[in-house]
Amino acid sequence: MVFLETNMVLFFGRFHPLLVHLPIGFIILAVIFELIAWRKKVDLHLAAAYALLAGAAFGVMAAALGFMLASEGGYNEWALNTHKWTGISTTLLAGAAYFLKINLSKAVWARKVYPVALALTFILLSLAGHYGGNLTHGSDYLWEHAPNSIRALAGLQPARERITLLDSALVYEDVVHHIFEAKCNVCHNKDKQKGGLLLNTPSSIMKGGENGPVIMPGEASESELFRRVTLDPAHEDFMPTEGRTPLTKEETALLEWWILEGAPFDKKVIDLSRSERVNGYLKAVGIGEEKSFLASLDLAAVKREVLDSLMAAGFRVKTIANHSTWLEVGYAAHHKDAMDEEKLRVLAGASENITWLTLSGTALQDHWLTYVGQFPHLTRLRIDQTPVTDAGIKHLVSLKNLEYLNVYGTQLTDAAVEDLCQLSGLKKLYLWQTGITEAGVARITDALPTVKVVYQHPR
Ligand code: HEC
Repeated sequence: MVFLETNMVLFFGRFHPLLVHLPIGFIILAVIFELIAWRKKVDLHLAAAYALLAGAAFGVMAAALGFMLASEGGYNEWALNTHKWTGISTTLLAGAAYFLKINLSKAVWARKVYPVALALTFILLSLAGHYGGNLTHGSDYLWEHAPNSIRALAGLQPARERITLLDSALVYEDVVHHIFEAKCNVCHNKDKQKGGLLLNTPSSIMKGGENGPVIMPGEASESELFRRVTLDPAHEDFMPTEGRTPLTKEETALLEWWILEGAPFDKKVIDLSRSERVNGYLKAVGIGEEKSFLASLDLAAVKREVLDSLMAAGFRVKTIANHSTWLEVGYAAHHKDAMDEEKLRVLAGASENITWLTLSGTALQDHWLTYVGQFPHLTRLRIDQTPVTDAGIKHLVSLKNLEYLNVYGTQLTDAAVEDLCQLSGLKKLYLWQTGITEAGVARITDALPTVKVVYQHPR
């Protein structure tokens, strides 16, 4: 390609994946025209012929751009050659089919050979497209999310289920490999090894790229791979290239941690030393996320009659997510019927399933809370702006799963503090505009270090 500067070659080459869809479209169109002509006995001779001609012409252009793209290098040779030759053959056959087509009326032999040529063009087209896809995405791409039974048919190993439990997750398989697969391996896979680098097996990672090793165990700053991902994104060496989604700060930190820990491949996450911060990063990539209390329980749905009785009593009832058996129940403060004990008795019929309960602004009396205190799965409770006093809180101490409690604007005083301290699952507690003093708040945060108390008026 002497007449073009190298940069221009690379520039045009990038258009190959775009332009290549034109010959594909025209050849398929020709096949469709022929099928219609055959089924409906209509004359589509010229349409089919011109579709083939266009397919062949754009095929030549796509091939030329393909050569330019291939000159960038970094492709698996076998995969590239297979794609190249199936692509070229498709183009040649499409051209041949066109000539057969326009000569059909003249020669009997042409009429016989034409359908074969068209069918072959179509088959080669599918192959060329498939191998081209492999070059772009890697040959496992098509089957990556296939069920294991279908993967087996395609001759692949069953997909390994990623382990996300902190105790059993592997540092390479579940963390490092997971990151490379998501962010790097479109370009560093066995069909496309940009920079001579393959990032999908332990040995290829340690082997490095065309400039040698990219990981120096124990020395992140000396590792080319780490340097590449921590450069300024505008730097020409920055990875990933071509504006692909860069690593998140957590992913980058985890790679650094893995390299500093000696870049092991067979260790478990828990075999390495981990700071709290690393635990946080692991959580960000989905390792060690505790299952929420609700997700770990599997509960039968509430009976229709029970739901109906709740709604008849004036409660608003929703499930907390689609297809969930967990209920979010509320009673409007401005409801025409005031809250009474009988309504809470009805509510208790669904006590197992209620996980969020809002009784804000209702005429809630202390002793009615005995019902609420027996909702075993309650995680959020709002009883703010009600007449509830310290005596009412006593009924709630058994709610060990309660994570969120809002008692703002109630009569509570420091006398309720010891009872509040019993709520060991609490994460958020709204106490503003109550009689509880700063000393009381201090006592609570002392007893429940993970709780966040909202004491001042939230701005
Ligand atoms: C869009 C394609 C693409 C993606 C995605 C990509 N790379 Fe690259 N990578 C390249 C190309 C092209 C080269 C060769 C040119 C160069 O060295 O800059 C390369 C080279 C490298 C090299 C240098 C190899 C050597 O020996 O010279 C390293 C290290 C590297 N990549 C790491 C990564 C990492 C880590 C990721 C994921 C965060 C990644 N790459 C994602 C295209 C990509």
